[in-house]
Amino acid sequence: MRRKMAAGNWKMNGSAAALDMIDALSSAHSDNACDIVICPPAHLLTAACDRAGNGPVAIGAQNCHAAEKGAHTGDIAAAMIAETGARYVITGHSERRETYGETDASVCDRSAAAQASGLVPVVCIGESLAQREAGEALPVIRAQLAASVPDGSTGDTLVVAYEPIWAIGTGKIPTLEQIGEVHAALRADLVARFGAEGEKIRLLYGGSVKPGNAAEIFGTADVDGALVGGASLSADDFSPIIAALAAS
Ligand code: 13P
Repeated sequence: MRRKMAAGNWKMNGSAAALDMIDALSSAHSDNACDIVICPPAHLLTAACDRAGNGPVAIGAQNCHAAEKGAHTGDIAAAMIAETGARYVITGHSERRETYGETDASVCDRSAAAQASGLVPVVCIGESLAQREAGEALPVIRAQLAASVPDGSTGDTLVVAYEPIWAIGTGKIPTLEQIGEVHAALRADLVARFGAEGEKIRLLYGGSVKPGNAAEIFGTADVDGALVGGASLSADDFSPIIAALAAS
């Protein structure tokens, strides 16, 4: 049985004041029914970890460098993130793949560095609209999975997020059949590669998850939770998504 996970990616949003949301989520979801992760911008990591304490909310970063240290201005190493108390890091988000030219190979290196520092990478993969319309979604996503995920990954050291690029921030989501088809294919590939551990690796869906569509998405086979952008910026939106996940 995989433990469900609701992860919020704040992207380049949030301020010290926004961390009040962690208190709201901690008290609303003290039953610990599923894993809750908030990924704020890097400058808030330490304060977010302090605020989360030992409560139900864990903290994650939004990217890490593959190297341990060195002349990489503006970057942050996985061990540095771990030092803040954060436990997760998003790797390979499509916004980073598109804007910074991150490749499957570099995402794999970052994810391996995260694992080596005791962080759990949330590895993002997903097709573009053109790829979906050309009927290439499955081969594209499966190739990304194969090349972005480090060898030796286990249910405890890896989370995968399927985020169709065209569904991010658009209000559009794939049909439930399409989500189910992708997640089934990813599950089969994880099991083929990692054996029994492949059954334990959590598969999140991301892209326009909102309180109004969360329950139906979470009712889809092999969807173990969500990676949420816009709707993770307020407790009023994120809390019902967490509740829907806990009830699924
Ligand atoms: P939205 O939920 O705003 O569509 O963003 C999804 C996302 O990119 C999460 O990483």
